[in-house]
Amino acid sequence: MVQEKSAKALRNWIIFGATVIVVFLLGMFASSVTQRRAEAQFTYKPSVQINDWEPRNEVWGKNFPLEFTSYYETSDTSFKSKYNGSSMIDMLEVDPRLVVLWAGYGFAKDYSQGRGHFYAVTDVWNTLRTGGPTGPESGPMPATCWTCKSPDVPRLMNEIGVAEFYSGKWAGKGEEIHNPIGCLDCHNPKTMELTISRPALVEAFDRQGENIDEASHQEMRSLVCAQCHVEYYFNKNVVEGVNYLTLPWDNGYSVEDMEKYYDDIEFSDWTHTLSKAPMLKAQHPGYEIYLTGIHAERGVSCADCHMPYNTVGGQKFTEHKMQSPLNNIDNSCQVCHREHTDELIKNVYDRQDKIIGNRDKLEELIVRAHVEAKFAWELGATNDQMADILQDIRHSQWRWDYAAASHGGSFHSPVEIGRVISTGITIAQEGRIKLARVLADLGHNEAIAYPDISSKAKAQEFIGLDMAKLNKEKEGFIKNLLPEWIKKKEEREAQWEIKYN
Ligand code: HEC
Ligand code: HEC
Ligand code: HEC
Ligand code: HEC
Repeated sequence: MVQEKSAKALRNWIIFGATVIVVFLLGMFASSVTQRRAEAQFTYKPSVQINDWEPRNEVWGKNFPLEFTSYYETSDTSFKSKYNGSSMIDMLEVDPRLVVLWAGYGFAKDYSQGRGHFYAVTDVWNTLRTGGPTGPESGPMPATCWTCKSPDVPRLMNEIGVAEFYSGKWAGKGEEIHNPIGCLDCHNPKTMELTISRPALVEAFDRQGENIDEASHQEMRSLVCAQCHVEYYFNKNVVEGVNYLTLPWDNGYSVEDMEKYYDDIEFSDWTHTLSKAPMLKAQHPGYEIYLTGIHAERGVSCADCHMPYNTVGGQKFTEHKMQSPLNNIDNSCQVCHREHTDELIKNVYDRQDKIIGNRDKLEELIVRAHVEAKFAWELGATNDQMADILQDIRHSQWRWDYAAASHGGSFHSPVEIGRVISTGITIAQEGRIKLARVLADLGHNEAIAYPDISSKAKAQEFIGLDMAKLNKEKEGFIKNLLPEWIKKKEEREAQWEIKYN
């Protein structure tokens, strides 16, 4: 009896104790929720007024610290995936064939794999492609090259007009452009809604009889990226003497549609130094290729994978560190896919490996075609004999570049990229058969040796680039002109008062 009584008392004590602990934990939980709510409210109170054309990300950041802080993490260069990532990779060193493919064009001087948005302005200052301007009228590049680099672009377009923005040299606008890609590029400062700040995209929609203002919210989550991650060219026929940024979409987005567009207007970016072919440089048709893939067909946007939701201190927000999703599989892919992280990474690498193998093969064929065409000219080939061959070189390299320059394309749309590369291989081989015939007609019936382009330096020497001179010009620019640009920027921004609420 006594034993039974004490067992019952013990049980009651245990129930009582457990209840106390549960109540205590619930209390803690409630307090933490309220605290986080308070934090959330605190973070979302706008503390400054953002002007209509405010290019400074830091000023927007005062109102939106979570988006701002994650955005500035694009300065992180530590992530490497098998083929991509956020570190700067010298692609000409990795693959010296590129130097030969781009002979006569700026990319043969210097081409690194892109890194985060944070570096957009710094990297364009430093690349040898922009040369070593000594004043506003000098250097190889037009002002249009600034268009996808900075929120100072919409600001300046508003001040001086779009055509005026595109006119003159790159160095002519250097003192005006400073803040790296940022809030004003994608957001309306009054409503924070997504917005299109770049006229070329709006104009391309107009010419197709579509109105970009009617795009759905989900489409806008890709179209903000399509302001820059697209194919484009500099059209000299819109405004006299101006390099007007234009998207060649009037016939459609496919590699053939855009090729027809360029062929019809006989446009070329440059004439190849070795083969003399009228070449096209694909820029970065990321959006166009994405459109042909299964994710776009199922309505998945760029932001779904590259800007997934994140939570900090109980506050859900859109991650603004735009990067390789392989560095953030759980927030991006695993929102929709149940597979393991390793499995998903393998899926991406499998697609990339299979495509990149063929892409390298195509590169080699085009290098051979350029070298053989050069030899044919040296043997006295005529324009008539070469015309068709040069078109084949143009079209095969356009296909290679369309596939290579669209970063992420082999995952975004593996079937389409596979198709583009295989048509490129067919065209390159047809061109080389024609070349073999011309060479035979000119009395040469042997194989032509593949050049020694085993390193970037050797390849650059092979195409006749004076790298020492280019490097010296760049050093001069960084030492003399760039500090003046930075000083002008500081003076300008010191005038813009920040109004606190
Ligand atoms: C105003 C032009 C512009 C807009 C808008 C833009 N980008 Fe970019 N993006 C760039 C440029 C330029 C680079 C290369 C920067 C560098 O290498 O210095 C880049 C680089 C990237 C990279 C490579 C980063 C890395 O770590 O390697 C990713 C990923 C990317 N952008 C995704 C996006 C997504 C997704 C969107 C839309 C939500 C977008 N971008 C909108 C211009 C833009
Ligand atoms: C390349 C385009 C791009 C840039 C640059 C950009 N954003 Fe965004 N932002 C987006 C997208 C896409 C969303 C998601 C919008 C949606 O789905 O409604 C978003 C959402 C937001 C939101 C809504 C709340 C949230 O987190 O979902 C805020 C606030 C915001 N961004 C602030 C900023 C700030 C501040 C900057 C500059 C530091 C910035 N954004 C730069 C594309 C951009
Ligand atoms: C918003 C949802 C969503 C997100 C985010 C997403 N996917 Fe998908 N994914 C889909 C849908 C839908 C399909 C089509 C499958 C179907 O309809 O049966 C698909 C298909 C695929 C396929 C098969 C398509 C093919 O190429 O054969 C792979 C692989 C894949 N996703 C990988 C990924 C990876 C890796 C990520 C992250 C980088 C990712 N997905 C992010 C929704 C998503
Ligand atoms: C279904 C998910 C998904 C969608 C949708 C998607 N991407 Fe990607 N993206 C990826 C993956 C996965 C990679 C490969 C990353 C790697 O190899 O590290 C990639 C690579 C990239 C890269 C190169 C990144 C680097 O590290 O250099 C850029 C730039 C890019 N995507 C931009 C875009 C743009 C712009 C859109 C929309 C037009 C888009 N992506 C839509 C998943 C996606």
